[in-house]
Amino acid sequence: MAMAANMAYLTLLALSIAAAAVESATTYTNHTVGGAAGWFFNDSSNTCSANYSSWAANQTFDLGDYLIFYTNTNMTVIQTYNLTTYQSCSTDDALDTDTFQYGGGDDQFGVAETMDVPLTVEGPNYFFSDANDGFQCQQGMAFEIVVNHGLGLPPSLNQPPPPPYTAPPLPSVVGSPPITLQPTSGGFRACVNLPWVVSVVLLAVGGIVFG
Ligand SMILES: *[C@@H]1O[C@H](CO)[C@@H](O)[C@H](O)[C@H]1NC(C)=O
Ligand SMILES: *[C@@H]1O[C@H](CO)[C@@H](O)[C@H](O)[C@H]1NC(C)=O
Ligand SMILES: *[C@@H]1O[C@H](CO)[C@@H](O)[C@H](O)[C@H]1NC(C)=O
Ligand SMILES: *[C@@H]1O[C@H](CO)[C@@H](O)[C@H](O)[C@H]1NC(C)=O
Ligand SMILES: *[C@@H]1O[C@H](CO)[C@@H](O)[C@H](O)[C@H]1NC(C)=O
Ligand SMILES: *[C@@H]1O[C@H](CO)[C@@H](O)[C@H](O)[C@H]1NC(C)=O
Repeated sequence: MAMAANMAYLTLLALSIAAAAVESATTYTNHTVGGAAGWFFNDSSNTCSANYSSWAANQTFDLGDYLIFYTNTNMTVIQTYNLTTYQSCSTDDALDTDTFQYGGGDDQFGVAETMDVPLTVEGPNYFFSDANDGFQCQQGMAFEIVVNHGLGLPPSLNQPPPPPYTAPPLPSVVGSPPITLQPTSGGFRACVNLPWVVSVVLLAVGGIVFG
């Protein structure tokens, strides 16, 4: 009887440990940067309101989580995947593809601001304030995290990035007559252009055969 009770207890214990282990991977988490101290820099003492490296060291970050920055317009939030940019405390040479600025656009100093930054890229993510020409960052307004896969991106964040810009193709035939759209005869356009295509193919073949 005692043995059976022990077994039942052990089974329950094992189940609850398993549940706890799974739990961390079944939800997305919003991390308040710096905890209650937020993301602030004191201009008089030149100190940050929190030690962001040690704050970050205590958290697990997954895709789809958010970093919530409680701050004001004296600070910026720069997110970058580029270590060189992070170490420079500056966005002057940063690429548009790996570095993003949150907030901004307010001319007034010290206005309360909250920035929600979704974590959408696995691996190292770096954050800093580039205000005061990087001085805040040099004083510790900076931290790095590693984003794990977790559950993967939720549908709300799972939009593919816009395709990179490509220059429109040059017109293939200079001075070709304008094409009149004729909705009733869809195949007409291709037929009109066909002799030209054939002659190009013939020229190309001729180039190969006779060249
Ligand atoms: C986390 O923050 C995002 C962005 O502000 C918000 O949409 C979401 O509801 C928050 N989730 C929780 C659990 O607070
Ligand atoms: C900023 O630092 C100064 C000097 O240490 C201190 O007197 C002041 O209370 C601090 N301000 C805030 C908002 O913490
Ligand atoms: C990190 O966690 C440890 C152990 O739980 C705790 O002692 C420490 O105060 C935490 N640090 C921060 C910055 O939350
Ligand atoms: C990081 O950014 C710098 C510009 O600051 C750029 O020259 C470099 O190629 C970038 N590194 C990577 C790995 O993209
Ligand atoms: C914001 O910056 C301005 C200008 O440097 C300063 O006068 C003000 O005290 C700062 N406000 C806060 C809340 O840090
Ligand atoms: C933050 O704390 C770490 C130790 O946990 C320390 O090495 C580091 O110098 C601190 N950073 C700042 C800006 O105080």
